[in-house]
Amino acid sequence: MAVIPGDGIGPEVIAEALRLLAAAGGVDVEHLPWSATHYLQTGVTIPADGYETLRSFDAVLVGALGDPRVPDNCHARDILLGTRFALDLYVNYRPVRLLDDRLCPLKGRTAADVNFVVFRENTEGVYVGVGGRFKAGTPDEIAVQEEINTFKGVDRIVRFAFTFARARGRRRVCMADKSNAMPDGHALWQRVFAEVKPEYPEIEATHLYIDALAMFLVQDPGRFDVIVTNNLFGDIITDIGGALQGGLGMAASANLHPGRTSMFEPVHGSAPALAGKNEANPIGAILSAALMLETLGRAEDARRIERAVEEAVRAGDVTRDVGGTLGTREAGEAILRRLR
Ligand code: NAD
Ligand code: IPM
Ligand code: MN
Repeated sequence: MAVIPGDGIGPEVIAEALRLLAAAGGVDVEHLPWSATHYLQTGVTIPADGYETLRSFDAVLVGALGDPRVPDNCHARDILLGTRFALDLYVNYRPVRLLDDRLCPLKGRTAADVNFVVFRENTEGVYVGVGGRFKAGTPDEIAVQEEINTFKGVDRIVRFAFTFARARGRRRVCMADKSNAMPDGHALWQRVFAEVKPEYPEIEATHLYIDALAMFLVQDPGRFDVIVTNNLFGDIITDIGGALQGGLGMAASANLHPGRTSMFEPVHGSAPALAGKNEANPIGAILSAALMLETLGRAEDARRIERAVEEAVRAGDVTRDVGGTLGTREAGEAILRRLR
């Protein structure tokens, strides 16, 4: 496994994930220094052969990328988004599961109401970097950022969502787009969804406009089982998903292309205000490491980590963002103890 601890709280949460991985049977780890500091020191965001290097590993574990010293975020785009694109990691899998009723921010909702997965298309949409600025910095500035949707791209993520639902016994797939306001780009999502759903007759296939879906996520999350949507909408609603789990620090993700090198990362960012303070919640990173083990065929080791996390959460042995009193390292230790 390659590890890119990255910026801000990234190295702190990754350190805890690595301790858990070591205790859950071990993983061969190689550290890669790519980060804002590395970029500021060397001028290199990711080396010319960087993506090739990553392809030589089974998996990549990333902390977070983003640093106020790099205001245009170019290193994060090259390292994080660049890897998603170069390795064609078209599935961004973001499970949303509430581990303890006490963590739910919604009145009267319990763990039974918050248990769904989001499949975020991860290789196109507005993230492709097609666009430009004309007369930048003047009152006549024109800024264009194109959203790209391809049949291949939409078809493979929609099929992945249905196939996952069938394999995991999940019964409902909801596709969310904005085809009322974006009749060209999102008509493609409508077409593909209509073409694919008859192949999965046992699965209830529904559609919501993304604005309504955002509302229902808060009002009635129990209606969701599998959600599939585009890159940008998936980014936004999985931060809501983080909140439904108690906070962004709890949320895990996997960037997948079945059969190829995959990349795992917490959903949260580098949280600069928390960096270096031993305050960040390590659970998102730890659960991302568990997703990695599961993807690499070590489901039992993954379950042991997840169970240890659940026990620590239920006991309240967690960081302050989720109602505990522990530091990052102590919260990791509390999980490690239970794993052992
Ligand atoms: P953020 O996720 O870093 O922080 C949002 C809020 O959540 C903050 O209040 C933060 O303190 C809190 N938070 C996040 N992770 C936490 C954790 N583990 N424990 C406790 N609290 C946590 O998002 P932001 O502030 O919008 O972005 C900060 C930087 O991170 C930016 O440069 C952004 O581009 C980058 N970013 C990177 C990634 C990634 O690498 N995958 C994801 C999102 C944002
Ligand atoms: C995420 C992040 C990234 C994204 C940023 C850092 C570019 O928010 O992984 O959710 O938008 O994909
Ligand atoms: Mn995000």
